[in-house]
Amino acid sequence: MAATDIARQAGEGCRTVPLAGHVGFDSLPDQLVNQSISQGFCFNILCVGETGLGKSTLMDTLFNTKFEGEPATHTQPGVQLQSNTYDLQESNVGLKLTIVSTVGFGDQINKEDSYRPIVEFIDAQFEAYLQEELKIRRLLHNYHDSRIHACLYFIAPTGHSLKSLDLVTMKKLDSKVNVIPVIAKSDAISKSELTKFKIKITSELVSNGVQIYQFPTDDEAHLPFAVIGSTEELKIGNKMVKVRQYPWGTVQVENEAHCDFVKLREMLIRVNMEDLREQTHSRHYELYRRCKLEEMGFKDTDPDSKPFSLQETYEAKRNEFLGELQKKEEEMRQMFVQRVKEKEAELKEAEKELHEKFDRLKKLHQDEKKKLEDKKKSLDDEVNAFKQRKTAAELLQSQGSQAGGSQTLKRDKEKKNLGFL
Ligand code: GTP
Ligand code: MG
Repeated sequence: MAATDIARQAGEGCRTVPLAGHVGFDSLPDQLVNQSISQGFCFNILCVGETGLGKSTLMDTLFNTKFEGEPATHTQPGVQLQSNTYDLQESNVGLKLTIVSTVGFGDQINKEDSYRPIVEFIDAQFEAYLQEELKIRRLLHNYHDSRIHACLYFIAPTGHSLKSLDLVTMKKLDSKVNVIPVIAKSDAISKSELTKFKIKITSELVSNGVQIYQFPTDDEAHLPFAVIGSTEELKIGNKMVKVRQYPWGTVQVENEAHCDFVKLREMLIRVNMEDLREQTHSRHYELYRRCKLEEMGFKDTDPDSKPFSLQETYEAKRNEFLGELQKKEEEMRQMFVQRVKEKEAELKEAEKELHEKFDRLKKLHQDEKKKLEDKKKSLDDEVNAFKQRKTAAELLQSQGSQAGGSQTLKRDKEKKNLGFL
């Protein structure tokens, strides 16, 4: 085929041209690998399951090490989450592994809210990532991504059916995290019971609409994985193998005829770790981010389904906010004016009352003054009259002493009339 034909086939504006020799961009995948290796990887597992179901043991078995961890008591007042991060190295690949485990799950009498702390924990990790993404100076390449990539849900090996706590919790988690149900301590169930139990669990999950993680490679036959955990090793043949020993025999953790541990390890770590990380980012985190941004008022389309840019949304939100602010300000101003008016009226009323009181007191004072003046006048008159009478009496007395004693009786009479006797 001629070069021009190839170019036409490649579509408009883009021509495919043959290379005359080695250029070197075929090393791009290697560059990608090298970059990833130098950056290191992170993987976060959440173990949800009742106290003592073997969560810690399974983690130790999966990663072939002994992580620290104290067994929980059954007396926790509520469900808590315990998170530990470890740096692991295998060949030249570094893995920052975080194991989060529920503490006290299934131990409360009222289990209604048992799922809530788990959901809140998952959301908190999404929120932290979103906040980092929304920063002007993002440091995502250095950021310790704590979003949960896989949630192992430990089902008790009852052989019956799922508990309502299991169904409710898995239903609440399925839109937030990749849920992988596992039957814990599966050495407690017989082979035939286990087959029935798996079928029962799968049908219950389907009928309750629980969306568990779909492994890209079809491995439905083993789901949910029946696992056994142990770090105890025993030499069988010429190999050291992980076992659980019982008085009646030995169960080998990595023997596919004994349990699905190897399948789980294969699916979780060796084949799908990257898919779990990818699904977490592109499905679960994307959903969280979309809901959060919509809650904040951001939309991709306006009410007429026309595309809406971030800038426009921001402007619209800003204008809405400014409008509200102005409205609030006007309300405050009106309220202030009203209050001032009320206070003014109150003050005017008080002033009026004060004036009236003053006028009343003034009048009272004037009346009192007038009364006193009248009294004074009448007293003055009395004093004058008294003086006149006194003068008259003295005159009479002097006349009497001249006229002799015969007149005494008459004078006494006159004195009596004047009020001196
Ligand atoms: P908490 O952290 O306290 O909730 O417990 P856990 O779920 O981490 O359980 P852990 O791994 O501490 O195991 C509890 C007990 O169960 C230990 O005695 C383990 O040896 C035992 N156990 C763990 N895995 C299995 C298993 O697969 N089968 C059996 N039969 N016992 C197991
Ligand atoms: Mg534990």
